[in-house]
Amino acid sequence: MKAYLNDGLVRLAEARVSIFDHGFLYGDGVYETMRVYDGVVFMLEEHLKRLSHSAAMILLDLPKTVDGLKSAIYDTLDANGFRDAYLRLAVTRGEGPIGLDPALCKRPTLVIYCDKLKPPPLSFKEQGMKLAIVNTKRNCKEALDPQIKSLNFLNNILAKAESLRAGADEGLMLNMEGHVAEGTTSNIFFVHGGALCTPASECGILKGITRDVVISIAGRLHMKLAEGKFTASQLLDASEAFVTSSIIEIMPVGKIGDARFKPGEVTKALMAEYAKEVQAYVKETKESGPSIWGAS
Ligand code: PDD
Repeated sequence: MKAYLNDGLVRLAEARVSIFDHGFLYGDGVYETMRVYDGVVFMLEEHLKRLSHSAAMILLDLPKTVDGLKSAIYDTLDANGFRDAYLRLAVTRGEGPIGLDPALCKRPTLVIYCDKLKPPPLSFKEQGMKLAIVNTKRNCKEALDPQIKSLNFLNNILAKAESLRAGADEGLMLNMEGHVAEGTTSNIFFVHGGALCTPASECGILKGITRDVVISIAGRLHMKLAEGKFTASQLLDASEAFVTSSIIEIMPVGKIGDARFKPGEVTKALMAEYAKEVQAYVKETKESGPSIWGAS
């Protein structure tokens, strides 16, 4: 297996970064996780747009242009021969002396890694994931804006550890005002009062790319959408709920603490449309030619 490191592909066993890399020293960097379907990276433009935004927010210059990143991504996929994969692209501040000044690092480090997709347990789709509302609050956006998809992940790691201790699959964080924010690696949706509800970006969440796709599908299906500030009790009162991410797509929620849910009609309709959306995207990307999505 190979990974892409800075200027080209290297064997995984030889892919090493310095102990002075500020990504390692301080979690100083940004990343994206993408899903690959039949050799096509789903929503690649949107991921690279968010990566550029995250990088700009932390005053980091990306080491390649968007087109340069696209070719590096497809080179990595081609080198490993994966058609259905998980792909992670990270850019760190780079190697530099100890210290917080971003100017200490002259050249960012780029790492692209992909692996075969490990499908989530079947029980997630059939019975739904178990969520726990954790005590760890989502970083407040005035301190470290969750819209920055950063390598600095301790907030989410502590929330995840707490949810695992509670026997749950995913931890759900509230923000400092007590409103529902998001999961440790997912966004949340639920059906309440006849509307499909999801926390607004002002709640301090990562604006998930899957979340955006779901919102646009919901619009096409003429579902009533409410992006807003919601309390935990509104969520617990929902008739159905699901979480979203590039990797797990739309995943029904079966339990939040002691409250139980069944994958309902809204969730099922959105899951079916999402699958169609992916198929159409893959077809269209392939038809638009190898220069966009790679040579194989
Ligand atoms: N996580 N919220 C958080 C905190 C996340 O880390 C993620 C993604 C999401 C969903 O975003 P998207 O739909 O763009 O994947 C929401 C990825 C999967 C990860 O960390 O690997």
